[in-house]
Amino acid sequence: MKITAMTQDEQKKLAGTHAVDSLVERGLIRSGMKIGLGTGSTAIHGVKRLAELIQAGKLTDVRAVVTSFQTGIACEDWGIPVYSLNARGIAGTLDLTIDGADEIDGENRLIKGGGAALLREKIAAYNSKRFVVIADESKFVKHLGTAFALPVEAVEEARTSVAARLAELGAVCTLREGVRKAGPVITDSGNIILDCLWKEPVDSAALEKDINAIVGVVENGFFTQNRPLVFGARSDGTVFER
Ligand code: 5RP
Repeated sequence: MKITAMTQDEQKKLAGTHAVDSLVERGLIRSGMKIGLGTGSTAIHGVKRLAELIQAGKLTDVRAVVTSFQTGIACEDWGIPVYSLNARGIAGTLDLTIDGADEIDGENRLIKGGGAALLREKIAAYNSKRFVVIADESKFVKHLGTAFALPVEAVEEARTSVAARLAELGAVCTLREGVRKAGPVITDSGNIILDCLWKEPVDSAALEKDINAIVGVVENGFFTQNRPLVFGARSDGTVFER
């Protein structure tokens, strides 16, 4: 019998569904929890599975904090109650955040922000007791920042000065352009994105801090703190956790 390899989208669905089921089974996702919900075509599968468990009455009183308009709309459609991170019942901390990633290195350091939601994604991830990442096999890399460009969110007024400082840090930067919209991508928080590539492997933990020290930078897509539990799905239909 011929076994067909899973497509990338099928792997995303498998990773998201398996992760949520496994976390619920182990009591790491429970009724009454405050849960951060990431953004993108992988994270949405985790959100969908959570919604299914809520609709089936297996999880109750889940309070979600979303990281983008996209995920907020999905929660509205699927009946997941959404709160601000500042709401009284949330008080700035989350029990768990589940999200996708653009690159994951061998020590579970990440690049995120392919969907330009890195600012709210990092606020959720870094204020969560547990951070979970779900991914298809294409996201696992040896080094961060040499293949997928690191997104840096910056205030538009500082576009040129920030790009110059990033070049001093060895990055080649490109202003992210909109699709079917003339001009740059404007993030959910009203800023621009500079996508930065390095020719050689970099110290992502040091750069995460150094980039954020540039005046005009709002946030960057290196996630090297609060290392996640990662669920990956392979094209052969197997899943792994690390
Ligand atoms: C959005 C993100 C996403 O999690 C990341 O881009 C992965 O996206 P996808 O799951 O669609 O491949 O960081 O800002």
